[in-house]
Formats: sequence, structure tokens, C-alpha cells
Amino acid sequence: MRRRRGRRAAPRDRGERPVSPSALLRPAARRLAIAAAVGSLALGCGVALMACSAWLISRAAQHPPVLVLSVAVVGVRAFGLGRPVLRYLERLLAHDAALRLLAGLRVRVFRAVDAGGAGGLAGRRRGDLLARLVADVDAVPDLALRVLLPAVAAAAVSLGSAALLAAVLPAAALLLLAGLGVAGVAAPALTAATARRAERSAATARADVAAAAAELVGAAPDLLVLGAGPARLDHLDRLEARLAAAERRSARWAGAGTALSQLGLAVPVAGGLLVGVPAVRTGALDPVLLALVVLVPLAVAEAVAGLPAAAVALQRARAAAARVQEVLAQERPAARPLAGPDASGAPTGVPDLLVEGATLRWPGAAAPVLRDVDLVVPAGAHVGVVGASGAGKSTLVAALLGALVPERGRVRVGGEDPAALGDAVASRLAWCGQDAHVFHTSVRENLRLAAPGAADADLEAALRAVRLLDRVRTLPAGLGTVLGEEGATLSGGERQRLALARALLSGAPVLLLDEPTAHLDVALARELTASLREAARGRTLVVVTHRAEALQGLDAVVRVDAGTVTPLTAPLAA
Ligand SMILES: Nc1ncnc2c1ncn2[C@@H]1O[C@H](COP(=O)(O)OP(=O)(O)OP(=O)(O)O)[C@@H](O)[C@H]1O
Ligand SMILES: [Mg+2]
Repeated sequence: MRRRRGRRAAPRDRGERPVSPSALLRPAARRLAIAAAVGSLALGCGVALMACSAWLISRAAQHPPVLVLSVAVVGVRAFGLGRPVLRYLERLLAHDAALRLLAGLRVRVFRAVDAGGAGGLAGRRRGDLLARLVADVDAVPDLALRVLLPAVAAAAVSLGSAALLAAVLPAAALLLLAGLGVAGVAAPALTAATARRAERSAATARADVAAAAAELVGAAPDLLVLGAGPARLDHLDRLEARLAAAERRSARWAGAGTALSQLGLAVPVAGGLLVGVPAVRTGALDPVLLALVVLVPLAVAEAVAGLPAAAVALQRARAAAARVQEVLAQERPAARPLAGPDASGAPTGVPDLLVEGATLRWPGAAAPVLRDVDLVVPAGAHVGVVGASGAGKSTLVAALLGALVPERGRVRVGGEDPAALGDAVASRLAWCGQDAHVFHTSVRENLRLAAPGAADADLEAALRAVRLLDRVRTLPAGLGTVLGEEGATLSGGERQRLALARALLSGAPVLLLDEPTAHLDVALARELTASLREAARGRTLVVVTHRAEALQGLDAVVRVDAGTVTPLTAPLAA
């Protein structure tokens, strides 16, 4: 797996509960276990190759009959060929497991972010979310590739080699265990303990840099016009400097760990000579095996030398895994089929909307936005919601969408809790938010996001309903015109209406439209409202606006004010 330094991130909130990252690896447990076994065999081949060669060279020096050497020659060939083949197989298995894990995890994280949409994850910076979705998720399989597999293989090979040396010269086996204790346990532990703080501040700094860079790019036009570009660039520079300092600290500890580990590995090699030579003299050790005693620890060194680096990777991956799990906590249950005879996803009935004694507070907010809200929108009714800016209109819509779960009271869409609907929410509710996104693709594909199979005639009908058809016809390639990254070839009001058309095209029986007329003059706003009512006939419609004049002709209008919702016109009977 490609190493992506400098792009990982960790929990921002200190004192948070440590999460077990191994839970994230569980789906790939079987494949990883096989990879670990094959990896251990590959390293074992390396040690066996060294042992065989050492014996072969020493024995050959005594000029024995060639036949005596032939078994060792076969061994050297077998282990020499076996090592790369097994190593290749291990890489294949491990990366297969890691990439499957990655694919599954990325989908889960994306769903969780998606579910958080208007609610749960609000308040988190885009760059931070991006870091979670890309770098943090990438770091989770690293946990297997860089930490788990090397550690398992190192342990297996260390024990096997110690057993081999014990059979030859027990004192050498003890020295090997002592050296491995320093190189494979003490050095990584020291590195882990010291790198934890450094990694954590590096991770925080990484998330800050990602967020600041994303903000800088996103707000470039505003910054240029305000002349604030250089100041923001300086800010980014300072964050980068902080990141570099933290990474240097982390690297320093990793380096110290590696040095200690190398020193540890020198013990059994030098010690092997020190105990081996006297043992040969006294006849306790066959001279042919002396080379083996000295050289086998060198081969084992290969297995443990990477462990201090693995300890740093562990700290990084744990931090990343915790951030991923934070996002996964937002996951919604999987889609449930619609009730009724038609479970294919097409709505069978038109749901009513019910809000009962609901208190709505955003996560982390000091006070609720709305308290004791009661609202009934009968199936098929068209209701307007007015209120000043910041009164809580969009908050009410977020509750209807299931994106914000009421602190008290309940919200029901056709008798169901929208927060528990999972993906099925899209088949019940169509939502057009205040600043809906226009995708960098054709007008047609932008509209078909909501209705994949829709024919051009349907698309045109929706565009006509939002008074945009004439405008689209003037575009160079009509429905096929590709819109810019942010739909740059359309004006703000036109973009909003394109998003409205998208909501209309979704077959959902409930339409929640947040400020569909915000960008329009009064006349066009009225016209659009009338046309939306026409297009939404037979569906439940909630239109949010801060302009009451755009609400003429609706069945009922409620006002959001002073933290609650009151009927402006006669309340509708349920
Ligand atoms: N996603 C969110 N996370 C946290 N707080 C939020 C979120 N959305 C809104 N708020 C808070 O809730 C309050 C009401 O905001 P809301 O967006 O519901 O107002 P609104 O009536 O839709 O205003 P506008 O007409 O300007 O769109 C605001 O004070 C805002 O700080
Ligand atoms: Mg709003």
C-alpha cells in the first residue's frame, strides 16, 4: 500500500474514549490470518536459508564427500526459492484483504457521512471530513499491513529461531531472546510510548492543515476580492510549520527506537561469537555449527527491525481508527423496504407528517432551537413555513428529514420515525436545501440523480414547473450542457431552481423545499409557488420561506418564531 505521509489525522477531542481499532479489521480476519501464516513462513524461509548456508559453507570447508553436502544444497535452493514466492503470496493475500477492507469501510464511512448530511456531522469542517473519508480510512488497513502482520510474523520467527538455537547451543538461544526482547519489545514499546503524544499532535495538525487548505481553495474568490488571501496563506504556512515540527518529533522517536533496536540485535550476534568460540573449544559445539549460531540472529534481525516503525504506525492508525469510528457512529440502519403491497421502493401511499411536542437541539448547542413543537400536515396537504432568518425553519425541516432527532417528543412521516428509515428515507421524502449542490455534469445527469430512468420529456416537464425550461433551452447543448464545478454557468436563482426540479423528479411522496424562492423577485416567487403546487398535486408539500408573500394559495401556513411553531392560518385537521 502506498504510504501517504502527512495526510493522516487523529481525534481532536482529547480525553475521548479509546476505541479498539481491531474491531475495524474484523471483517478481514480470516484472510489476514492466512496472510500472517504465509508471511511467517516467508520469514522462516529466510532464517532457514541462512542456517543452511552457514552450515553448508562451514561443512564444505572441511572438504567432505559431495554427497554429504547435497541435502543442504537442496535446502538452500528450496528456501532460497521459497522465500520470494511466499513473500509474493503474502503480499498478494495481505493486500487483497486490506483492499477489500478498505472498500467496505469507505462505503460505510460515506454512508455515515451521507446520513449525517443535514444533521449529525454539521459543524465539522469539510477538510476535516475529507481527511476522515480519505486519509483516516486509508490508515485502517495500514494497521493490518504495517503493524499486525509484521508483528505476528516477527513473533513466530523469533520463537522458531530461538528453538533452533536452543537445540544447538542453549546459551546462544538465551542471548537471541535477550536481543529480541530489546529490539522487538523494548524498542517498539519505547517508541510507542513516546510517539503517542507526538503522533497525536501531528494528527491534529494534519487535520488543521487539510481543513485550512480546503477552506482556502473553496473561498478563493472571496479571499481575492477581500484582499485577505496573503493572510490566510500565512495562516496555512503556520499550520504547516506546526505539522512539520510535530512530524519531526515523531520521526525522532522512531529513529531512536530503530537505533535501540539495532543495538539490541547486535547482542546475539556478538554474544554468539563470545559463547560459541569457547563452546567449540570445549567440544560442546560442533565447529560446523558456529557460523549458524552467529548468522541466524542476523536473519532474525530482518523480522524485528521494522517493529519500532510499526509501533509508530500503530499510534497513527489507532488515532485514525478512532476518528473513523466517530464517523461510523452516525451510521444509519440499512434501508428498509416500504410497507404495503409494493415493496419495490415505489411509494404506495402519501404519508402525513406529524411533529408532537418536539424539542429540537443541535448536537453540542447550548439551547434548543425549537421547543414543544406541534405540527400536523395531513397526507397530500401543502403547507408553508415562515419565520425570520435564524428562527429555526431549516431546523424543523432537518427533524422531518430524520437528520436531527428530537430531544423530546416525536416526529413521524406516515407513522414512521424518519430517523430510523435508513436509506429508505429518500423514497419517502424529497428535500431541496437552501444551497443545493449542482454537480459538474450535464443538466440531464444533474436531474437524473433523483430519477435515474427519467426521459427527457419528464426532465423538461420538471424544468417547466420551476420556470427554468426556457433558460436551459438557451444553453449551448440544452439538457446535455455540462455545468461548471459549482454550476458556474447558471445564476444562483437558476441553480436553486435546477435543484428544485431535481426534487420534483424524485418520485418521493413528500416534498420538503427549503427557501425555493429566496433568490427570486416577488412576481416570479408567486408564480413558482403556484407552479410547485401544481407539480406537487397529490403529494405532501412543505415550503419554507422567510417571505410570507410567496405562500399565497397554500392549504395552511405556520410561523416559526420565538422558539416554537404557531399556526398562522386555521390549523389543518389531521
Ligand atoms: N447544522 C446545524 N448545526 C448546528 N446548529 C445549527 C445547524 N443549523 C442551524 N443551526 C442553528 O439553529 C438555529 C436556527 O437555524 P435555522 O437554519 O433553522 O434557521 P432558519 O430559520 O432556517 O434561517 P434562514 O432563514 O436564515 O435559513 C441557528 O441559530 C443556527 O445556529
Ligand atoms: Mg434556513
